[in-house]
Amino acid sequence: MRNPPSSALTVARPANAPAAFLNDVLSGLAGTQKAIPPRWFYDEVGSRLFEDITRLPEYYPTRCERQILAKEMERIVQLLGRSRVLVEFGAGSASKTAELLKHASVAEYIAIDISGDFLRQSVDALKDRFPHIPMHAVEADFLQPLELPASVRQRGAAGFFPGSTLGNLSEAAAVDLLRGFGEALGPDAALLLGVDLLKHESILLPAYDDSRGITAAFNLNVLHRVNRELQGNIPVCAFEHEVRWNERLSRIEMHLRAARDMRFRIADRCFSIQAGETIHTENSYKYTARDIRLLLRAGGWNVTGQWTDANGYFAVLAAERIALTCARD
Ligand code: TRP
Repeated sequence: MRNPPSSALTVARPANAPAAFLNDVLSGLAGTQKAIPPRWFYDEVGSRLFEDITRLPEYYPTRCERQILAKEMERIVQLLGRSRVLVEFGAGSASKTAELLKHASVAEYIAIDISGDFLRQSVDALKDRFPHIPMHAVEADFLQPLELPASVRQRGAAGFFPGSTLGNLSEAAAVDLLRGFGEALGPDAALLLGVDLLKHESILLPAYDDSRGITAAFNLNVLHRVNRELQGNIPVCAFEHEVRWNERLSRIEMHLRAARDMRFRIADRCFSIQAGETIHTENSYKYTARDIRLLLRAGGWNVTGQWTDANGYFAVLAAERIALTCARD
């Protein structure tokens, strides 16, 4: 059977998004440690603020990752193999993708992101630059089971997961996600992954708490979004952006700290928060090179290449799927 034309693959907006948002917020705020999952950061405003973060002098990961991709492109392209479907998870502005599309032999490009309008703009810009490569924007949460077009398995796929997004998940969730990627991409898949490495907190903390307050605005935007989309009346200006280095768990944590006691409403539910109490919004795990190799292996991937920038701040890894072996007697 032939594949449908490229435009037919563009998946519509998930119909249940507001219900899922409400559900996550209500259950997240009911716990002892209040929390809102980070996927809700990325509405149109949040996606734009995140782009601003990636250009901040304090936010080194994007620059380091770009540097590595530029320097090691020849080897990366070799490891990814020929004529594959490139599938990018959490593509956002897809600003690192052009470099890959320029050098790798990519038969088709599929970009997945939860922020649909933003993604479609990014993919349209890439279409102008690479008119010969069929491209699809898929508005979806890649943490949910994904069904990718049949061409992915037929042609063989390379997954692209940059930006240390893997580090925003717990170990267990990261392993599940890596296994899910393997299943979605098929038996011969390759993976190109960017992760942030463990380093001193004097470098880590400013990357999540910049002097211009862009990261603070990004963090606080999730409360504005709750007010806007879930009929909330949270007094956003009474919350403060707070960043912590959790040494034991090797992760940066972002919180929103209440400056005073408050009561507020979301949909028709009432909540209260005490002065000093926080809403936990994000984790960003920092790995050693060995941690990440072990994590990939647990998730069903074998590392075939690993590179860092000149400072050793960030790592890009290439991996291939570990072949499933059946027990025989
Ligand atoms: N994957 C990115 C990271 O962990 C996400 C991120 C970067 C981020 N900066 C942020 C998330 C600031 C929230 C706030 O580095």
